[in-house]
Amino acid sequence: MKIALITGITGQDGSYLAELLLEKGYMVHGVKRRASSFNTQRIDHIYQDQHQAHVNFTLHYGDLTDSTNIIRIIQEVQPDEIYNLGAMSHVKVSFDSPEYVANVDGIGTLRILEAVRILGLEKKTRIYQASTSELYGGLAENKNEKGFYDEHSPFYPRSPYGAAKIYGFWITKNYREAYNMFACNGILFNHESPRRGETFVTRKITMATAAIALGEQDCLYLGNLEAQRDWGHAKDYVEAMWRILQQEVPEDYIIAMGETTYVRDFVKMSFSEVGIDIEFRGEGVDEKGYVASCSNPDYQLELGKQIIAVDPQYFRPTEVDLLIGDPTKSKTQLGWVPKYDLAGLVKEMMASDILYVKKEKMLKEVRSSINY
Ligand code: NAP
Ligand code: GDD
Repeated sequence: MKIALITGITGQDGSYLAELLLEKGYMVHGVKRRASSFNTQRIDHIYQDQHQAHVNFTLHYGDLTDSTNIIRIIQEVQPDEIYNLGAMSHVKVSFDSPEYVANVDGIGTLRILEAVRILGLEKKTRIYQASTSELYGGLAENKNEKGFYDEHSPFYPRSPYGAAKIYGFWITKNYREAYNMFACNGILFNHESPRRGETFVTRKITMATAAIALGEQDCLYLGNLEAQRDWGHAKDYVEAMWRILQQEVPEDYIIAMGETTYVRDFVKMSFSEVGIDIEFRGEGVDEKGYVASCSNPDYQLELGKQIIAVDPQYFRPTEVDLLIGDPTKSKTQLGWVPKYDLAGLVKEMMASDILYVKKEKMLKEVRSSINY
């Protein structure tokens, strides 16, 4: 039985990857951080299964800033594969905590690689590093002749997050070349799901769409509506991570859908999914979104009501304007075929958030009706 160790197992990707590897018969170990309140919501269902059936799933307390802890966990687990997904992953927040991001996302990667080397596991343990399309920085002149970023496009990170991740990228490649380690970068473009953190733009939009439709929120405030992203589904992307580590030769791969969409259009798609059409008027910080029509009898939205506005607090000091990746190498070499398109992703996220908001609304009503 193969043994996998996942850092960042409590995150969006970690939770889907754990499910995938368990399905494939792996023994899965995960690193979770100690927190003052529960932080395992995305993997609780796996943990509970473990007590009912035979599920090979173990969690270890740890942190990527703590070398001795990382060495001890890897020594105990003796993994065949390590997926280093742990990171402070929010680009905007990285401008507030640049040193912490460098430590976790940059040096944290080195700690994993060094631990494997110190323990003499270079031949046994394969390592996946969660690299990112943020490395490209969205510079138009760096796209290839087909208009995509590919594995040869130059990097130009535009945030402390991107700068930390570029160190993670190069140190992974360097350990592969210097010590012959099976260490690979997956350069993943944005991927989302119903488990996406609530402060990333897609989830913020789908949660707010559900709350506005159900009368629980008046207006959604966003930052740069002009940004364009190449969005896929996290479930498809964790499958690609696994495929990267099953190859004969270690290499780096872009994982992307090859299509890009404006943030503004993602808003329109989410509302349209629940029968509400939005019309945008105005420009820049004055741009606003209004209800143009509402065909769903369940939602009582007044026509012409303003429900979207721009709030400059969500702008970034330096922005990545446009990302679009070329998945040719991953499709041909890895045989990777995504099951979701953007419409399928939005449909799943909206269905999940409508249920979520309904449940929250019901709980609020129950709580307010209890006379303490
Ligand atoms: P996520 O939901 O934010 O999850 C990040 C995970 O890292 C969480 O489990 C978090 O723990 C953990 N973590 C944070 N700081 C840590 C530390 N100091 N030590 C150990 N663990 C720590 O991110 P994601 O979307 O799943 O992304 C997974 C990885 O892929 C990240 O490295 C991200 O940078 C990278 N990536 C993501 C995308 C994307 O579009 N999703 C694209 C390219 C690359 P808590 O739950 O305790 O916070
Ligand atoms: N978060 C957020 N909130 N972003 C907004 C908002 C808002 O209110 N309004 C507009 N945006 C724009 C951002 O300026 C950015 O251009 C785009 O929406 C996407 O933002 P995020 O969803 O926060 O993702 P990201 O692209 O910055 O970073 C994500 O993808 C990277 C891969 O390209 C993260 O998952 C990173 O960890 C990942 O590496």
